[in-house]
Amino acid sequence: MSPFEHIKVEPLTPTIGATVSGVDLSQLDDATFDEIHAAWMQHLVLFFRDQKLTPDAHLAFGRRLGPLHIHPAAPYANDNPELMVIHTDKDSFRNNCSGWHSDVSADEEPPMASVLHLHRVPSQGSDTLFASMYAAYEALSETMKAFLGDLTAEHVSNYAGTYGDHKPQREFPHATHPVIRTHPVTGRKALFVNRGFTRRINGLAPKESTALLDFLFDHAASPAFQCRFQWEANSVAMWDNRCTQHLAIWDYFPETRSGLRVTVTGDRPT
Ligand code: SIN
Repeated sequence: MSPFEHIKVEPLTPTIGATVSGVDLSQLDDATFDEIHAAWMQHLVLFFRDQKLTPDAHLAFGRRLGPLHIHPAAPYANDNPELMVIHTDKDSFRNNCSGWHSDVSADEEPPMASVLHLHRVPSQGSDTLFASMYAAYEALSETMKAFLGDLTAEHVSNYAGTYGDHKPQREFPHATHPVIRTHPVTGRKALFVNRGFTRRINGLAPKESTALLDFLFDHAASPAFQCRFQWEANSVAMWDNRCTQHLAIWDYFPETRSGLRVTVTGDRPT
């Protein structure tokens, strides 16, 4: 029997991802929000269809999760840096995040959540892949888990040239984080290195660090830890950056894909 009274939750895989129906994210009572939060902790990434969210309703939903995060460099909408623009079209030379990453993990306190609402999608393709870093951690040997448990890594961002002539909001962050972090809500351990931002493991020789990071990046990208979401106009995805990574596929050039992302601040990984 479903533990949820106010929402319907259909898992995409046993490991990660679920579609939630029966809700309008712009009109949530506390009981429904609490069920969404519980389902999110269980499935790590939630997907909602047919959400005609205004930017204000999108911001309000993000704020229910916590104070909003400002991206260091990405363009934003409505003069509000909390409303990050995700847009690719025939004039783009890149899409946002075609490599595996956890959002802005180079921040001292990386964002906990991202909520993406796509308004316009191409006729085919443009899926986003999500991977569980709990599953990546749990699949390691006990010896490797113990070894990684004592290590920290450097996360470095460099957005120079990434967003055209848009002026960055702040200095590009860098931070030191544990290689394995414990999720503050679930208490589960997750692998916390990603190809997008993690540059070096501290205390190892450069060749050792490169070899270990390459192994961990490959391991984290195993299809067994993933789900894949097919967008429609007005779909919403909310993901937990503390225990997932994601990658957006740019297979639809020259078509347009467009939406807004609201991101929620997190705490220092421990
Ligand atoms: C992002 O990292 O917010 C982009 C994800 C996507 O475009 O699917």
